Amino acid sequence: MTAEMKQTAGRSPGESWHDILARSKVRAPDFMWEDSHQNLGSEPLATDRYTSDEFFRAERERMWPNVWQFAARDEELQNPGDFVVYENVGRSYLLVRQQDGSVRAFHNVCLHRGRKLRSESGTANEFQCPFHGFSWHLDGTLKNIPCRWDFPHLKDETMMLPEASVASWQGYIFVRENADGPSLEEYLHPLPDHFSEWRNDQCSTAMWVGKVIDANWKTVAEAFMEAWHSLVTHPQFLWFLGDANTKYDIYGDHVNRALTPAGVLSPHLEGQGYTEQDVAEYFLKYNGRNAAADGFTVPPGQSARVALAEYYRQVFGAEHRRDYTDVSDGELLDALVYNVFPNFSPWGGFMPTICYRWRPWPDQNRTLMEVRILVRVPEGEPVPPAPAMHMLSPDEPWSSFTGWGFLGEVFDQDMANLPFVHEGLKASKNNQIQLGNYQEMRIRQLHHTLDKYLNK
Ligand code: FES
Ligand SMILES: [Fe+2]
Repeated sequence: MTAEMKQTAGRSPGESWHDILARSKVRAPDFMWEDSHQNLGSEPLATDRYTSDEFFRAERERMWPNVWQFAARDEELQNPGDFVVYENVGRSYLLVRQQDGSVRAFHNVCLHRGRKLRSESGTANEFQCPFHGFSWHLDGTLKNIPCRWDFPHLKDETMMLPEASVASWQGYIFVRENADGPSLEEYLHPLPDHFSEWRNDQCSTAMWVGKVIDANWKTVAEAFMEAWHSLVTHPQFLWFLGDANTKYDIYGDHVNRALTPAGVLSPHLEGQGYTEQDVAEYFLKYNGRNAAADGFTVPPGQSARVALAEYYRQVFGAEHRRDYTDVSDGELLDALVYNVFPNFSPWGGFMPTICYRWRPWPDQNRTLMEVRILVRVPEGEPVPPAPAMHMLSPDEPWSSFTGWGFLGEVFDQDMANLPFVHEGLKASKNNQIQLGNYQEMRIRQLHHTLDKYLNK
């Protein structure tokens, strides 16, 4: 590593992520230790990347058709004939479970006069257009044209619904409009290696909440790509989260991560008299991913982190019917937040998993943000079907959704900033924003990769 790169990859002062990992009684896997930095420069970003019609059009034409987009989870379409309507930047797809168990994605547009074939996800034996009744089989081949005598010019072979590329990884189904490009496996590298034990294919969507935010899709995504806004935006995190100990990594063009240790006091609160018992209690109360345990006590001489990890070894072991003896503390506790370019973010580890997706809704000024909670399905039990997305109205706070503890309040804290970020970007005098070299390197990578697509 050159001196310049070292400086670019400088991290917050104080204890490192590695120092904290080293205290686990079970050694964390190598990929949790490894650093993956790259110097992508320190140039400011132009605000019109978030606000202009032209930039949005360029994204729509040159980026979105060429990337793998997370479109559905397996548990949304479990049986042949189940289908999901997935829409983004002007395209609409029908993802359809086939008789052989595979999933295919068709453009959800009638080839007669253009009506969308379906407006909501569901189950079907065929796709008959509600306008004049042209119909297609589940495999996209033409089934019937009413008043066929009037369409002698249409041949069955050329009336197949246009199809997009589909690929799956650990229960996540992706579509790509254009056929050319890297395979999903190449695109996700090295994420599948990192998740090989975390097995999101053994998880199922338990909660799914969405809301339209008045900000650009990148602004919303970027609010979840660094932990250091906790200092001001989520002060309650400081009692149990090592915000400033976070390790950031970028991998190639499409994958990055932030690893934030939990069950430790934030370096910002050091020396203020908080005890290990305080840290554990705050974690259990406010972490938002697992219900609080009354009467939890950190044994004398133990750290909150070690005690909490041991607690979750037992709790998750019983819940998931799995032996967690050989699993490291960090995999049981920490915020292991991965991003896949451009808009998909699955969390790793064995806690109930959070998964984000962001889509322009419908343009550069609004975003549909979706949050899913995936829970592990105990060995031998059937995978429950996914609930429908609970769409919050513009006036409903995230905390109005019940069942996810303190998480709703956390999202309300995040979202309170974002419409004002968008307004500020439009009002900016110098038309540029700045990024920290280390803590905001994931945001830098997103723009760097975006430019590669736009300039192809
Ligand atoms: S638009 Fe679909 S059948 Fe006419
Ligand atoms: Fe946040």
